[in-house]
Amino acid sequence: MNIVLLGAPGAGKGTQAAKLVEEFGFAHVSTGDILRAAVKNGTELGLKAKSYMDAGDLVPDQLIIDLMNERFQQPDCAEGVLLDGFPRTTAQAVALDDMLARMNRPLDAALLVDVPGEVIIGRALNRRVCKDCGYVGTAADAACPKCSGEMYQRTDDTEDTVRNRLDVYEKSTSPLIDYYRGKGVLKTVDGDRPVDVVFADMKALLGL
Ligand code: AP5
Repeated sequence: MNIVLLGAPGAGKGTQAAKLVEEFGFAHVSTGDILRAAVKNGTELGLKAKSYMDAGDLVPDQLIIDLMNERFQQPDCAEGVLLDGFPRTTAQAVALDDMLARMNRPLDAALLVDVPGEVIIGRALNRRVCKDCGYVGTAADAACPKCSGEMYQRTDDTEDTVRNRLDVYEKSTSPLIDYYRGKGVLKTVDGDRPVDVVFADMKALLGL
């Protein structure tokens, strides 16, 4: 299956993606994770992306489209992908259509994790991530519950940056809801409920 996860920053896309990967073994492609690794490793992509990410702005489309064209060539994507954080603009969505068409593959679903703005801000400020395994938890996790690694707060999880990311989402990414509705692949899950309840609904919507 080829699935796009849509939703505002902090809606729970990464949390649900991890559960889908654990249960179904999808190839999880998160542009945010790829970019954060590039910044950490000081690669050319990371150097170009860092200032946009720190401000909560989008990295330019062409950098992301080139990155995804390359990522799609990797063997784990052969059977399908779970896209988390891509596409984020109409230009990226059109590029994804082209990539899938070239591989003769359909987009099975664009799944919107729908959460109100004020809930989002609280979640992002409360988020902590494991330095070692990438597990996404909250400030209540003194250490990673999966591997006991150290938990840290993302540099873009400050209140001002989160508010800007929400504005950017409304302006640049939310038009994709209509884009995918028009293609007949949009499915919406109420993400403002416990993680496992959201996950059960997602599986039902995806026919899994
Ligand atoms: P990215 O990493 O994609 O960030 P995002 O979209 O802002 O999404 P998040 O990772 O913040 O949130 P999420 O929805 O995954 O929520 P999570 O599961 O962590 O992008 C970062 C930056 O990279 C961008 O700002 C941009 O600069 C750049 N970038 C990335 N992709 C790009 C692209 N395609 N084009 C251009 N630029 C790009 O959950 C959040 C918190 O809530 C956690 O603490 C979690 O435990 C908790 N939580 C989750 N679900 C629930 C629930 N049901 N109930 C209660 N708490 C919950």
